[in-house]
Amino acid sequence: MGTLVDRFGREHNYLRISVTDRCNLRCVYCMPEEGVEFTDTSNLLSFEQIAEVVRSAASCGVTKLRITGGEPLVRKDLDQLIRMLAAIPGISDISMTTNGILLAQQAEALREAGLNRINISLDTLSSARFKFIARRGELRRVLDGIEAAGRVGFDPIKLNCVLLRGVNEDEIGDFLQMAYDQPLHVRFIEYMPIGHADENWRKQYLPLTRVLEVADERGLRYRTRGDISGSGPSDNYEIVGGRGSFGLIHPISDEFCKRCNRLRLTADGYLKPCLYWMEELNVRQALGSQEEMEALLFKALDLKPESHEMAATLAGGALSHVPTDRRMSQIGG
Ligand code: GTP
Ligand code: 5AD
Ligand code: SF4
Repeated sequence: MGTLVDRFGREHNYLRISVTDRCNLRCVYCMPEEGVEFTDTSNLLSFEQIAEVVRSAASCGVTKLRITGGEPLVRKDLDQLIRMLAAIPGISDISMTTNGILLAQQAEALREAGLNRINISLDTLSSARFKFIARRGELRRVLDGIEAAGRVGFDPIKLNCVLLRGVNEDEIGDFLQMAYDQPLHVRFIEYMPIGHADENWRKQYLPLTRVLEVADERGLRYRTRGDISGSGPSDNYEIVGGRGSFGLIHPISDEFCKRCNRLRLTADGYLKPCLYWMEELNVRQALGSQEEMEALLFKALDLKPESHEMAATLAGGALSHVPTDRRMSQIGG
């Protein structure tokens, strides 16, 4: 089969795989407090079915995988999935995005199973504020998870910090200081309206230009850094004299869709060409036939729009497609 090049010439070598839509936290920007209706466990793709999709994707040029959720570590025996995926010819990089709560106890097994990299969500350094943002869980456990990830040798360790106006914007300086003091890559993320383009989102959305202002106010010197491993949308900076680095993921203030290289697979078995839009294809119709699965991957590419339109959404303008009704936890970011 050929490689996955879409109508806009973008080559797709990266598949994000959500293994569950369940989560042990309820972050305000991701899920409503009461949760969402979770997929019945019997309707989740099995590990064997996920591996089948990955075998077809790999034969079409996909080399990188990212395991996401919900919270991926609430899915039982995840290290077994990692081991299965790592054995698939052509797969050279497997990473995971986790909230870190269950990481301390699983870091070693994940590393041994063949997980190469890890990104951990961390939106605040205050335990009281953690209760407000994540609504459940304890900051301490996330910090223990980060520590364990370092101890078992994950490198780089990336932290994901979603910035919310009026909630954690006053911590930008502390996070930059953390990236200066520790060998961590701190990524600031713009709040995206996935499944909820409401007034609250409009109020709390914060453009990341603020991060560089704070860095300047603090007299930090930074310069563009190109060499951090990963293939996501982050613009990366090294901090002169510091041990770590930081990155900006700014889909709205500075769109990065031109370099999009990814497809998504949801936990309930849908290929999602773009995070933002409604279009999806059910992989169950192609299970059992590599030829049909490969054809489905190309069909997903044909459905992929040129870009999301979150900036137009913010401005209240007309949109060219229908935005997804899934929440972020049902896609995996
Ligand atoms: P690396 O390979 O380590 O660079 O991973 P990544 O940054 O792609 O993955 P991660 O799951 O850590 O995502 C960080 C943030 O980027 C999350 O808020 C994601 O929702 C967002 N993100 C990742 N891919 C896309 C994308 O294609 N479009 C948009 N709009 N946001 C994305
Ligand atoms: N906007 C931006 N990032 C989000 N994430 C979850 N919901 C949103 C949102 N609405 C982040 C999480 C996690 C990653 C997968 O996506 O914090 O780090
Ligand atoms: Fe759970 Fe991640 Fe969503 Fe937070 S952002 S509720 S940790 S899936």
